[in-house]
Amino acid sequence: MFNFTFMSTIYDTVSKVIKERRSIFPASYIKKEIPVEIINQILESANYAPTHKLTQPWRFVVIRKAGKAKLGETLGRLYKARVSEAQFLQKKYDSFAEKTDQADCIIAINMQLSGKIPEWEELAAVACAVQNIALTAESLKVGGYWSSPPLIDDLGEFLSLNANEKCIGLFYMGYHNEKPWAPNRNPIEDKVRWIEE
Ligand SMILES: Cc1cc2nc3c(=O)[nH]c(=O)nc-3n(C[C@H](O)[C@H](O)[C@H](O)COP(=O)(O)O)c2cc1C
Repeated sequence: MFNFTFMSTIYDTVSKVIKERRSIFPASYIKKEIPVEIINQILESANYAPTHKLTQPWRFVVIRKAGKAKLGETLGRLYKARVSEAQFLQKKYDSFAEKTDQADCIIAINMQLSGKIPEWEELAAVACAVQNIALTAESLKVGGYWSSPPLIDDLGEFLSLNANEKCIGLFYMGYHNEKPWAPNRNPIEDKVRWIEE
């Protein structure tokens, strides 16, 4: 016999975490350290993502403490190298160090290509892993967001990536005092078609 009350409780919890997860940006983070145990719990969830042929392509680099300033400096340098003098914006340049400083921890999201399945499937599996990260962070009251500036293509040296490993984002994290707010979404009915006959 199913215990429907219990099942409903699990649904309620999962649904609440899914619906209340928001991207929380570094400007909203407060100065409070995320304990290593919490970071490990968040990372552990990533490992349960689905993965075709069990390639488990998700790879992470945890950037904390002095590592954050190094990342901020590296992003600034890469930005300066990419844009022309006319395009260069001091505000944009400064924003990298500012964001890495505001975050307590930044997880570089990497993808290790196995060659066994198409690249999009590896990417999809890593994205599933990131959603696990985002939901676990939400459940532990840690804010976070997936940042994907074009500069991540140039982070190979900083992150010591392998030959077939790509960085596909930076997950900024920090505690915050934001209240949940309703997300901006069109109704699901607009995005679903049913075939029943
Ligand atoms: C693959 C991916 C890349 C993203 N890259 C960025 C980014 O570079 N900058 C940014 O501000 N937000 C980025 N976001 C976060 C979105 O802005 C955010 O998910 C969207 O506004 C919806 O808000 P919500 O996450 O609170 O529901 C990214 C999200 C995903 C899934």
